[in-house]
This record gives sequence, structure tokens and C-alpha cells, in this order.
Amino acid sequence: MFRLYTTLAVFLCVLGTVWGSLQDCLDVVDTNCPPEATTHVDQYFCDDKGRVYNGSCQLQEHFCRLTFFHNESFHLTKLGPNCDHPLYVAAVPRPLTSEETNLFASMVHGVDDRLKRTEAAGTTANVSKPIFSKQDHTHKVYQRNPHCWAHDLDLTPISPWNSYGKTRKAGTLLSPRHAVWARHYSIRVNSTLRFVDRHNNVVDRRVIKTRALYTNASAHQSFLFGHDMVIGLLDSDVPSTISFAKVLPRNFTVLMPSRERVRLPVFSTDFEEKALVADFSNMRGTMASLIEPITTSTRHKYYERKISGDSGNPSFFIIDDQLVFLFVFTFGGSGSGTSVQHNFNEINSIMEHLGGGYQLTEVDLSRFVSAAHVNALFGDHIFG
Ligand SMILES: *[C@@H]1O[C@H](CO)[C@@H](O)[C@H](O)[C@H]1NC(C)=O
Ligand SMILES: *[C@@H]1O[C@H](CO)[C@@H](O)[C@H](O)[C@H]1NC(C)=O
Ligand SMILES: *[C@@H]1O[C@H](CO)[C@@H](O)[C@H](O)[C@H]1NC(C)=O
Ligand SMILES: *[C@@H]1O[C@H](CO)[C@@H](O)[C@H](O)[C@H]1NC(C)=O
Ligand SMILES: *[C@@H]1O[C@H](CO)[C@@H](O)[C@H](O)[C@H]1NC(C)=O
Ligand SMILES: *[C@@H]1O[C@H](CO)[C@@H](O)[C@H](O)[C@H]1NC(C)=O
Repeated sequence: MFRLYTTLAVFLCVLGTVWGSLQDCLDVVDTNCPPEATTHVDQYFCDDKGRVYNGSCQLQEHFCRLTFFHNESFHLTKLGPNCDHPLYVAAVPRPLTSEETNLFASMVHGVDDRLKRTEAAGTTANVSKPIFSKQDHTHKVYQRNPHCWAHDLDLTPISPWNSYGKTRKAGTLLSPRHAVWARHYSIRVNSTLRFVDRHNNVVDRRVIKTRALYTNASAHQSFLFGHDMVIGLLDSDVPSTISFAKVLPRNFTVLMPSRERVRLPVFSTDFEEKALVADFSNMRGTMASLIEPITTSTRHKYYERKISGDSGNPSFFIIDDQLVFLFVFTFGGSGSGTSVQHNFNEINSIMEHLGGGYQLTEVDLSRFVSAAHVNALFGDHIFG
């Protein structure tokens, strides 16, 4: 019974052109280790029931091998007396599909390669978190920070300032004329929403209409849980030097990689306009949420707890070097909020009602996953 875990499991991992380390692999897989074990990254720590999942090592190895490409190996051994308890055996995981693997890999590389590159250049997290090295809101002078780990991404859909909340309340473009923010931290009509292009030119637009997601008051619904979004219409389109964020395909409404022990990185901003990283927890029903990365990971250096003032700031997957919008912050800690995917059709009808002539734009995932398989992707338990 114990043989699986007394046998050494070998992990092979790699990271494109930027050489990573063992930790890059552990950034992405979850060995189900409690914090006290994480200083021993090569050792498997059994929980208080001696619980390990049969096949999870193989799944993680598979995931690692498919999403990274640095040929480092390490040994995973059992650690601690709890491993001598009888194994609690969950189901054997199904292997990741090639569709899952390819999409996961793009998401992982989108963030982890950039963090690695930053680290390799000797830039600390504190220096590389700020998106701007200068933000003079009064004189409209902005300088994008060349040391920001996300500097080479197109971050222009993200508004750093508005005339109503100043650095608070955020605002993210979902079309050339529509922005999204949080209802509990809303921006008034006639406020100016500011964007900065990649060459630090400022583009200001006036918010001329807003509409929140529907909340059923007679059903005692709280808008905080799954309806905490406002769409604002701008007085005119932003120029093509300012981009808007795409969203996942419409049918992509359930996404639970953490349940499968797969850690996908998410890029978020806060009210200071820092580029932060957390792991995706899940999206199901009306909400989407993040979790803290493993504390010894590189990602964790870019992680911050979300605090009062961060509400309304956006979270994205980075897929094919594009921002794919997920939600805006309602709750703090790791951060969670209303799932854009759950409200896809309603947001489109709000955009239509407000005017402007645009709808949400789905990111093209066709090179990863066929349209027919979008529903199934991530929907099945890996541990059955
Ligand atoms: C783990 O799964 C493998 C593959 O299905 C099986 O051969 C093995 O007996 C399982 N081990 C335990 C301890 O259940
Ligand atoms: C890593 O392993 C792969 C597959 O065996 C091989 O093609 C590649 O050349 C190796 N890369 C390095 C840097 O050793
Ligand atoms: C990074 O900045 C934070 C907040 O200013 C500070 O507490 C921390 O000590 C800094 N870390 C390093 C390594 O400089
Ligand atoms: C917005 O400004 C217009 C024009 O000045 C004014 O008529 C309107 O009442 C204002 N709306 C709000 C909500 O302040
Ligand atoms: C709102 O909730 C009430 C009570 O549950 C229900 O009867 C009604 O159909 C709901 N309205 C909408 C538009 O969903
Ligand atoms: C999305 O889901 C709807 C409703 O289940 C279905 O009719 C449609 O074919 C799906 N679209 C794709 C691209 O799978």
C-alpha cells in the first residue's frame, strides 16, 4: 500500500528560454503540503490523516512536464510520521487532456516566464510591481515602469485614475466605449475616466451613462454576491492606442483548477496600480475567486492581500500575451468578485441598452480548444 510513496517520484520541468528552478514547478502544482513542509520542497508531507491522493504525484509530474521545459529533476519522498497511517485513497486522476494542458501552459507561461525574467535581471518584486514609475494625476504626467514584470503586455485597458474616486474605484475597458467597475464602489455619471497609452499619452473620457447588473431585491439578493458590477458608457470611443480586455468564451462558466490541484496564475491590479499575482481558485455560479500562492513560490513575492480601496480593480488570465478579464474585486484577502462569465448575456444586453455599438469580445482559444469542448473543459473532476 505504501509503495507508491516510498518510491521516488521524479519530476522533470522546464521554462522556455528563461531557465527556471524547481520552485517554478511547485508554483504550479500543489503537493498538498502544509506550510511547515514547504521549506523541504523535495519532500512530500502527509496530512494529519496520512492522506495523499493516489496518482496525484503522477498528475503533477505530467502537468509539470507538459507546461514547463527546463530539464530539472527532483525527488519527492515522504516526510513525517503521518505517512505511516493507512493511506486514504481517493480516486485515480484522469490525465489532463491536451486541450487543458495547452491552455494551462499558455496561462502559466504568461505570468511565470515574466516573473522569472524579472528575477533573472536582478529586479526585486518591489521594483517590478508598480505599473507606473510616475503618476502625477494633477498634471496628467504618467510614466510606465520599464521594470514592471508585466511591462511588455498591453495594459492600456486599465484606468489608473478617475475624477470621482481618484486612484480608487478603478475602471477597465471591455470595449472601446464600455468600462466595468464595482457597484459597491461605483463611479458617477459625468466623471472622467482616464487611460494611458503605451507611450504615456493620456486619454480622458467622460462617463455618460451607467447601469448595474440586475439584483432581485424581492428575493433578498445581495448584489455583493454575483451582481457587483457596473457598466459605464463613455462619451466617445477611445482611440486605437488604448485597448480593451477580452473575456473567455461565453460557455466557459465553470473553472475549478484548484480543486484539481492545478495552480493557474492570475494578474490583478490594486489601487496603487501595482501588478500583483495570485493563483486562481475557482469560478462557478455567480462568483470567481483567487487564492494565495504557495508561500515559497516566486509568485508569492508578487502577491498582496487585497484591502479596502482595491475594490473594482480587475483580475485577468494572460493567454497568448493578452489580458482576459475575469472579475473585479468585491471582497478582500486573496480577492473575489462577480464572475463576468456568469453574467455574460446580461452584460451584453446592458452594453446594447447603453449604446455605443459594442459587445463583449471573446478571446480566440481555437488553437487550444475547440468550441464544442469549451463546456467540458475543467468541468470534469480530475479526481472522480
Ligand atoms: C493507485 O492507482 C493505481 C493505478 O490505478 C493502482 O494500480 C494502485 O493499486 C493504486 N494504489 C492504491 C494504494 O490504491
Ligand atoms: C530537455 O529535454 C528535452 C527532451 O528530452 C530535449 O529535447 C532538450 O534538448 C533538453 N533541453 C536541455 C536544455 O537540456
Ligand atoms: C517591499 O516593500 C514593502 C512595503 O513598502 C516593505 O515592507 C518591504 O520590506 C519591501 N521588501 C523588500 C525586500 O525591500
Ligand atoms: C451631467 O452633466 C450634464 C451636463 O452638464 C447635466 O445636465 C447632468 O445633470 C449631469 N448628470 C449628473 C448625474 O450629474
Ligand atoms: C425575483 O424573486 C422573486 C422571489 O423569489 C421571484 O418570484 C421573481 O420571479 C424574481 N424576479 C426575477 C426577475 O428573477
Ligand atoms: C454554448 O452553450 C449554448 C447553450 O448550452 C449552446 O447552444 C451553444 O451551442 C454553445 N456554444 C458553443 C460554441 O459551444
